Amino acid sequence: MLVTGKELLQDAHKNNYAVGAFNVNNMEIVQAIIEAAEEMNSPVILQASQGGLKYAGVEYIAALGKLAAEKTKVPVVLHLDHGTDFDQVMLCIRHGFSSVMIDGSKFDLNGNIAITNKVIEVAHAVGVSVEAELGKIGGTEDHITVDEKDAVFTDPNEAKRFVEETNVDSLAIAVGTAHGVYKGEPKLDFDRIKIIKEMLNMPLVLHGSSGVPDEAIKKAVSLGINKINIDTDLRIAFAKGIKEFLKKNPDNIDPRKILTPAKEAMKEAVKAKMTIFGSVGRA
Ligand code: 13P
Repeated sequence: MLVTGKELLQDAHKNNYAVGAFNVNNMEIVQAIIEAAEEMNSPVILQASQGGLKYAGVEYIAALGKLAAEKTKVPVVLHLDHGTDFDQVMLCIRHGFSSVMIDGSKFDLNGNIAITNKVIEVAHAVGVSVEAELGKIGGTEDHITVDEKDAVFTDPNEAKRFVEETNVDSLAIAVGTAHGVYKGEPKLDFDRIKIIKEMLNMPLVLHGSSGVPDEAIKKAVSLGINKINIDTDLRIAFAKGIKEFLKKNPDNIDPRKILTPAKEAMKEAVKAKMTIFGSVGRA
């Protein structure tokens, strides 16, 4: 069943757990994530990044996501990850996304508030939820790169002003994670999560969550993170499934045979994440 981001994340906020937001690019990935959600009786967020939209096209991603949501009993959000501009966000809303992110983190505070409000005015009018980002999350998500030296942690006072002036539904905060594969072990600023949660009392989002140790994720959830974005760890599982199969079956040419173990590996990775996030049994 397709639901809004607000509906899902308000429940997670009230009951102190997090919902996994997994990046989708093709049918097998959508199926792997939905099957995992069904087996774990967990709500789930399917999200399309800039690269995902470029790869599959907005029509395909929207059709796959909506079909998957319609066919299942578990609550599913179809979300735009890191929306870059107003027109693209509108296009996704028009294609049936139930949640969008407008990433105005490249602007100053006033610019970020302005673009977020512009999106919210339209999105809220048609019942679509909005996620914004404050502070700058380092690393590379598809073709969007933020250099480590330009990464800026979220300022709690700015976050308070941002939320008061926008009425945004969820806020992505920069607290030490980065998109992509980590070189060393990431160090999360737990105090910052705690302070921001106390000051805002609303759903908070953690990007760049692949490669963060399970215990750190659990602590972040206990302190108030309610949406956790995962892309890289699922790519790793998918690629491993393909490599292992082709190593054992080098002459196989059937995409269905090659992709089935990849899908299974990804499904297991999603189930493990859901267990850590505390969303199991929450559907
Ligand atoms: P990872 O690739 O580090 O899991 O980050 C995903 C993400 O934050 C998507 O917005």
